[in-house]
Amino acid sequence: MEWSELKAKAKERFNGACRLCPVCNGVACAGEVPGMGGVGTGMGFRNNVSALADIKLNLRTVHRVNAPIMSTALFGQEMSMPVLAAAVGGTAMNMKCTMSEAEYSAAVITGSVQAGVLGMTGDGPNPEVFQGGLSAIKAEQGKGIAIIKPRESERIVLLANEAAQAGAVAFGIDIDAAALINMTRAGQPVGPKSFIELEYIKRNTQIPFIVKGIMTVDDALACAEAGVDAIVVSNHGGRALDHTPGTAEVLPAIARAVQGRLVVMVDGGVRSGVDVLKMLALGAEFVLVGRPVIAGAVGGGAEGVKMVMDRLAAELRAAMVLTGANDVRSVSSRVIYPPAW
Ligand SMILES: Cc1cc2nc3c(=O)[nH]c(=O)nc-3n(C[C@H](O)[C@H](O)[C@H](O)COP(=O)(O)O)c2cc1C
Repeated sequence: MEWSELKAKAKERFNGACRLCPVCNGVACAGEVPGMGGVGTGMGFRNNVSALADIKLNLRTVHRVNAPIMSTALFGQEMSMPVLAAAVGGTAMNMKCTMSEAEYSAAVITGSVQAGVLGMTGDGPNPEVFQGGLSAIKAEQGKGIAIIKPRESERIVLLANEAAQAGAVAFGIDIDAAALINMTRAGQPVGPKSFIELEYIKRNTQIPFIVKGIMTVDDALACAEAGVDAIVVSNHGGRALDHTPGTAEVLPAIARAVQGRLVVMVDGGVRSGVDVLKMLALGAEFVLVGRPVIAGAVGGGAEGVKMVMDRLAAELRAAMVLTGANDVRSVSSRVIYPPAW
């Protein structure tokens, strides 16, 4: 499939939900939640993109980095690069597309596996979202991560253990969905989690536990203390709380505080391999990509997701060569101009 075909198909299938803007920055779709935008004024989404755009890179070419090491491993799972497809749910509500939840998850999980990376699946009031995700993970021998809404802790444990049964590499909770009204309206309450609850979830589950939606050093430290295995520095793509800073702004301090105690991941506004390199240089070990993967899946199914991932890999490789970064596992802040931290 050519990029032009993928884009044309995505435009048709999105049915107006996503305009496929030349720069996916949350301006045209501000306030469109449900939809593809950021909540309220859309500033959380826009801040993600602008925070990354504000970071400059040092172009360095007097070195011997010709074939940088891109591969890494997450919880024992080999990956071709430190990139994951972010969790997404609500195909009908958010994307107005005719893809079922199961079809969407299958496209993301299989396309990610074909690109040598991992994908995440989402959750929602409709059980089809979570179950469709689990089926997709199962169909790929467990090569995926199931993200559960911050439901009652006993329910989280139950669903996490279902994910473990499906062979999932890990499970997580998108803790920033703590005020999601459609869950509560559907009689499936969500809310913030106390330290004790995080410990409870960790104690009663077997596979690695990820907390997605961390934006402060204090919350990151609490996760580390509670035994959480990984955090995702994330504001849910600007869809939870309006006027949050860009994730690239808060990442360095968070990474500094918890590095070595748990795995640090990040998402928000990542649109290219250059953005991936910036996040690695700011302290992330893994980078999640949301909306570009959605466009790939809607436009081209698994093949479309693989195309998005392959493009990110090619861009990341070029960016590493041009900054002299030899290994994705040890990208130095020296690639940033001026050094950020
Ligand atoms: C339409 C849509 C649905 C989403 N659904 C979920 C979800 O079910 N669970 C979750 O953890 N995150 C969800 N997210 C957030 C993404 O996982 C991710 O944090 C965000 O999209 C990253 O920002 P980016 O799109 O700018 O890359 C959703 C995002 C979008 C745009």
